[in-house]
Amino acid sequence: MKKINIDEELKYIEKVNEINKGKTLKYYILTMGCQLNENDSEKLSGMLEKMNYKKTLNMEEADLVLFNTCCVRENAEEKLFGKVGEVKKQKENKGTIIAIGGCMMQEEHIVNKLKQSYPYVDIIFGTHTLHKLPQDLYKALEENKKIRDIIDIDGEIIEGLPISRNDNIKASVTIMNGCNNFCSYCIVPYVRGRERSRNPKDIIEEVCSLAKEGYKEITLLGQNVNSYLRVEREKKIEFEEYEGVNSFATLLRAVNKIEGIEKVRFVSPHPKDFTDDVIEAIRDCEKVSKIVHLPLQSGSTNVLKVMNRKYTKEQYLNLVEKMKKMIPNIVFSTDIIVGFPGETEEDFEDTLDVVKKVHFEQVFMFIYSRRVGTPGDRMENQIPEEIKHKRFDRLKALVESQIKENNDKYIGTIQRVLVEGTSKTNEEMLTARTDTNKVVVFEGSKELIGNMVNLKIISEHMWYLKGELTH
Ligand code: 5AD
Ligand code: SF4
Repeated sequence: MKKINIDEELKYIEKVNEINKGKTLKYYILTMGCQLNENDSEKLSGMLEKMNYKKTLNMEEADLVLFNTCCVRENAEEKLFGKVGEVKKQKENKGTIIAIGGCMMQEEHIVNKLKQSYPYVDIIFGTHTLHKLPQDLYKALEENKKIRDIIDIDGEIIEGLPISRNDNIKASVTIMNGCNNFCSYCIVPYVRGRERSRNPKDIIEEVCSLAKEGYKEITLLGQNVNSYLRVEREKKIEFEEYEGVNSFATLLRAVNKIEGIEKVRFVSPHPKDFTDDVIEAIRDCEKVSKIVHLPLQSGSTNVLKVMNRKYTKEQYLNLVEKMKKMIPNIVFSTDIIVGFPGETEEDFEDTLDVVKKVHFEQVFMFIYSRRVGTPGDRMENQIPEEIKHKRFDRLKALVESQIKENNDKYIGTIQRVLVEGTSKTNEEMLTARTDTNKVVVFEGSKELIGNMVNLKIISEHMWYLKGELTH
C-alpha cells in the first residue's frame, strides 16, 4: 500500500514551532459535516497544538481560525461564506491567519468564489493535502504568501500524524478513505477520491494504544466500511495481513478482542456489500454494537436504480430480515433522502412503507440537495422545493411517531450502558448511551464516567430516556 512519507511535514512542525516559540497563540476550529471530518479535525488540531497553538472555543480571540468544510449538502456553503466574512474584521485588526480545508475545497467553483470574493484567506487546502498544514502555515507565516494547496489524486494513506482528540472515552478511528460507488446524488467520490484502506496493523495498533490510554468506545469510520480492503484484494494491491485481518469482518473480530475496549461501533456500511461474514461477526462479537446504520436513501426500487444504489426495495428488506433472524436483538438506523429527481408520490410511499416495516431506531432525514458535477444535478425532472418539504414533513411525522413507540418499549427494561459524562443541560445529571445509541440521563456520582453501569429505564422524553442506577 502506498503511504505518504510525512517526515518533511514533521520538520515543518518544528520550523513553525520555532517561529511561534514564546508566544501565547490560540486556534479556533470549526468542523462541518460527518464523523470523518471530525476525525480529520482532530488531526489538524494535533498538528496545530504541536506548533504552539492552544485551542479556544471563542473565534474572536483566535490567532488562527480554521474551517474544516463539508459539501454533502448545500446549506454548508452559505454557512462557510458567512463565517469567512465574519473573520475579515478580525484579520484586519490583529492579523488572524485564516485557513480553510476539507471537502468543499475540492470543488472548483467554491475555490474560485473564495479567490474572487474573499482574497484575504491565507490558506486553502483540500482533502488530499491535510497533512501539509504545517508546510502551508510555514509559507503563510514566513513568506507572507497566500497558499492554495489542492490536488486531485487517487488516494494515498497518511499515517503518523499527531492527533488531539475531542473526548477521552470515545474515539473514532478512520479505517478507509474515499468512495468508489458514485451514487448519483453524492459529491463524496469527487472530493474524497477513490477507496483506499489503511493497513490492518496500523488500525489494530491505534486501537490498542487508545485502549491503553483508557478509551472505552471505538467507532470505525469510512465512507463504505464494509468494503474495507476490497479494492486491495481485487486489484491485488499488496497489504500486510495482521492478526488474521484481511476484510471488514475479520477487522471487527480483531478489534473486539482488544482488552479495555468495551464497545465497538462502525459507520457507514453500504447495504449492497453487507456480506454474511460481516453479519456473523456482528453476531459473534459481544462488544460490537447491535444497532447497525444501514443507509436506505429511498424505499423505491425505481429511485434506487436512478440513484445507482445497486439494490432494490425487496433486497433491502430481505437483508434486514436476514439480519434480524441471525441476530435477534439487532436494530437499525438509517439515512433517507426525500425529493430526489423524478421521485413520484408512489415512490415516496415506498419509502414510508420501508420505514413502517423496519422500525428504525433513528432516521437521519435529508432533503435532496443538487450538487454540481453529480449526475443528479443534471437530471431534468427536479422536484419543486414545496413538494420536497411536504414529503420531508410527512416522513418526519412518521419517524417521530415510531420513536415514541420504540421509546415506550424501553420503559422498565435494564440497560447496560457506558457513562459518557455530565448532561449538557444539567451538570448534576450524568448521560450514557444504550447499545442502541439512545441517550439516557440519570443521577449518579461523576466517578462513574467512563464505566459501564446498569440502568433501569423509568421514562421517555422523545430524544432521550431517563433511568436510575440498578444492579
Ligand atoms: N442531498 C441530500 N442528502 C444527501 N446525502 C448525500 N448526498 C446528498 C444530497 N445531494 C445524504 C445521504 C448520505 C448522508 C451522509 O447524506 O443520505 O447517506
Ligand atoms: Fe456517497 Fe454513495 Fe459513496 Fe456513500 S456510498 S459516500 S452516498 S457515493
